[in-house]
Amino acid sequence: MAGKVRVRAHAKTHKSPDIARRQIAAGAVGVCCQKVSEAEALVEGGVQDVLVSNEIVGPAKIARLAELSRRARLGVCVDNLDNLRQIAASGARLDVYIELEVGMGRCGIAPGEPALALAREIAKAPGLRFGGLQAYHGRAQHVRSMSERRAHIARAAEAVNATRALFSRHGIETPIVTGAGSGSFMFEVESGAWDEIQPGSYIFMDGDYARNEWAAPLPRFDHALFVLATVMSRPSPHAAVVDAGLKASSVDSGMPTVWGKEVLKFTKASDEHGVIETPATSTLSLGEALMLIPGHCDPTFNLYDELVCIRGDKVAAVWPISARGALL
Ligand SMILES: Cc1ncc(COP(=O)(O)O)c(C=O)c1O
Repeated sequence: MAGKVRVRAHAKTHKSPDIARRQIAAGAVGVCCQKVSEAEALVEGGVQDVLVSNEIVGPAKIARLAELSRRARLGVCVDNLDNLRQIAASGARLDVYIELEVGMGRCGIAPGEPALALAREIAKAPGLRFGGLQAYHGRAQHVRSMSERRAHIARAAEAVNATRALFSRHGIETPIVTGAGSGSFMFEVESGAWDEIQPGSYIFMDGDYARNEWAAPLPRFDHALFVLATVMSRPSPHAAVVDAGLKASSVDSGMPTVWGKEVLKFTKASDEHGVIETPATSTLSLGEALMLIPGHCDPTFNLYDELVCIRGDKVAAVWPISARGALL
C-alpha cells in the first residue's frame, strides 16, 4: 500500500455546496466539479478549493473561470495547447492539470511526449501553476468484475508513472496525480501512482453501482438517494403505475429499482409514469409510497431543486441543489 492519498470528493454528483462543505469538514481537501457554472455555485456556497476536473473551452467560459480564480483556489484540466494559451492569456490564476487519456475514451492527451509539451507551456505562463496530472478511467468504474477493474487501473497506472518519470527527466516535477472514482479508487490508492482520488457517487450509491462486484479492499457503500413515488394506478393484478417516470429519475444506466421490494420490477418509464411489474399476489394499493433507487445518481440530482434529508422518519434538513442546471 502506498503513502497517504488525499480525497477531493466529486461534487458533480450532488451539485450541493451543503454537501461539499460537509465532505471537506470530514477530511476532503476540496471538491471537483465539471463546469465553470458549477464551480461558481460551489464558491458562492462557501467552498474555497475547487478543481474543475474537465476542459473549459471558449472565451466566455474562460473569462468566468478567470474571474472566479480571484475568489477561491481553483484548478482546471487541459488537453490542448491552444486552449491552454487562451487560459493563460485570460489572466486567470489557476492550478492547471494535464488530463491524460488512460482508457476513458473521452478527453485527455496521450501520455508521454504529447503531455510533456503541455507541461512546458504551463511553466511559461505567469498566472498558471502546474497542478499535476489528471488520470481518470471512468469506464473502469462500471466494469462489474473486481479483477478486471483492477487490471484496467494497473494499465492506467503504468501510463501515469511513465509520464511522471518522463517529466522528471526533463526537470518538471508533478505535484499531484488526481483521478479515480467510486468503482475503483482503492486500486488507484494501492498502485501508488495517484496522490488524490475523486470519488463522487459513493455518497449515494446508485442502482448501477449496486450491480458491481464489491469486495475488499473496496468498501461497499449503502444506498442513500431515493425518489419517493406513489402508486397511482393498478391496471392489472400484474402491474402498478407510479407517478415517477423520466422527469423523476435518470434511466441512462437502467431503470430504477424499488428499495426493499425486489419482487417489484420497474420496467418502463415515460414522462410522468413508471410501470412496475408485480407478482399476482401483490397487495400494492393506490396511494402507497415506494422508494426508488435511481439507476444513475448524477443526472437524477439535476432534475431536482432540493434534497430532502431524512433521519429516522423525520425530515432533518432540506438542502438546495444549488448547481442544478449549471451546465455552462
Ligand atoms: C473526472 C471525474 N472524476 C471523478 C468522477 C467521479 O466518479 P464516480 O461518481 O463514479 O465516483 C467522475 C465522474 O464521472 C469524473 O468524470
